[in-house]
Amino acid sequence: MDKTAELPLRAQEDVVSIRRVVRSHAVDIGLSLVDQTKLVTAASEIARNTVLHGGGGTLRLEVISNLNRQGLRMTFEDRGPGIPDIERAMQDGFTTGGGLGLGLGGAKRLTNEFSVESKPGEGTRVVITQWNKR
Ligand SMILES: Nc1ncnc2c1ncn2[C@@H]1O[C@H](COP(=O)(O)OP(=O)(O)O)[C@@H](O)[C@H]1O
Ligand SMILES: [Mg+2]
Repeated sequence: MDKTAELPLRAQEDVVSIRRVVRSHAVDIGLSLVDQTKLVTAASEIARNTVLHGGGGTLRLEVISNLNRQGLRMTFEDRGPGIPDIERAMQDGFTTGGGLGLGLGGAKRLTNEFSVESKPGEGTRVVITQWNKR
């Protein structure tokens, strides 16, 4: 059965706790251990961005399905300052926050689907999806 959860992302401790929630949903839909770890890593990078760069926001977690697969879709939303140049922000090593600048690009490489939308002054939405192989 498909299900949805919405979780707050306000502080670093929320980033830690979503790692557990994401892992448990990933196990539930039968993601391989490697795909679980990729997804948890991507999710914690984006969650950290939501907290640090976006000033906090929410994570919506959905178990979705098509004809022969189940997937975990995660939508990270904030109403922070937004990203003025997404192409630049996606480049490895680009950071405005003294980080490593690997979060967005890394999350894209680690997941099956990745999208980022942002409007300066309005906020940012990042969606990542991992599909199982059944
Ligand atoms: N939710 C967000 N709100 C505003 N800016 C963001 C957000 N997420 C990412 N960014 C911008 O994109 C840049 C690159 O992000 P990322 O690749 O995760 O690197 P890092 O977090 O190490 O800076 C950030 O430095 C920041 O400028
Ligand atoms: Mg980051």
